[in-house]
Amino acid sequence: MEYALNICNSLHDDHMKTVSMLEDLEAALKRIGRNNPPAADDADVNKMLDDLVAVMDIEITSHFRFEEEHLFPRAEQMGGGHMLMILRDEHDTIRPLAARIAELIEVPRENGFDAETWAKLYDLGLELAERETFHIQKEEMAFIPMLSQIIDPSDDEALTKTFLSFK
Ligand SMILES: [Fe+2]
Ligand SMILES: [Fe+2]
Repeated sequence: MEYALNICNSLHDDHMKTVSMLEDLEAALKRIGRNNPPAADDADVNKMLDDLVAVMDIEITSHFRFEEEHLFPRAEQMGGGHMLMILRDEHDTIRPLAARIAELIEVPRENGFDAETWAKLYDLGLELAERETFHIQKEEMAFIPMLSQIIDPSDDEALTKTFLSFK
């Protein structure tokens, strides 16, 4: 969907990139299974996990922070209080979850994941995919359409610049 405001389109593009990453994560986890850690030299899995850390790092730092500092307050002023409380709570739940996953992925592992670490990563990875996808769906269905109504077009350029400067 194409919005009249660049900031809405920029948020949407970020969301789609994150959802696509989480689809790759979920598909890989289900293919590999919880009880079979991938081989240490499985280049596809290693790349997917590195990409996941990079995408989620941007998501939970710059994307979340921009929403919290520059967009949620505007929406709250316009009466979106209950929805915004839920979105903020979801950020607070997703942040430590994504950070924990990055910790598990970033430990040196010449011999691959041990069974216990892999099982943990499997569980947390599926939880992240579910929670973050659900969060994004909510923002796509309710929050961005609301922004498209309440943001003054004369603020769009400055907001979009600020959004890009957060990355
Ligand atoms: Fe968000
Ligand atoms: Fe978002």
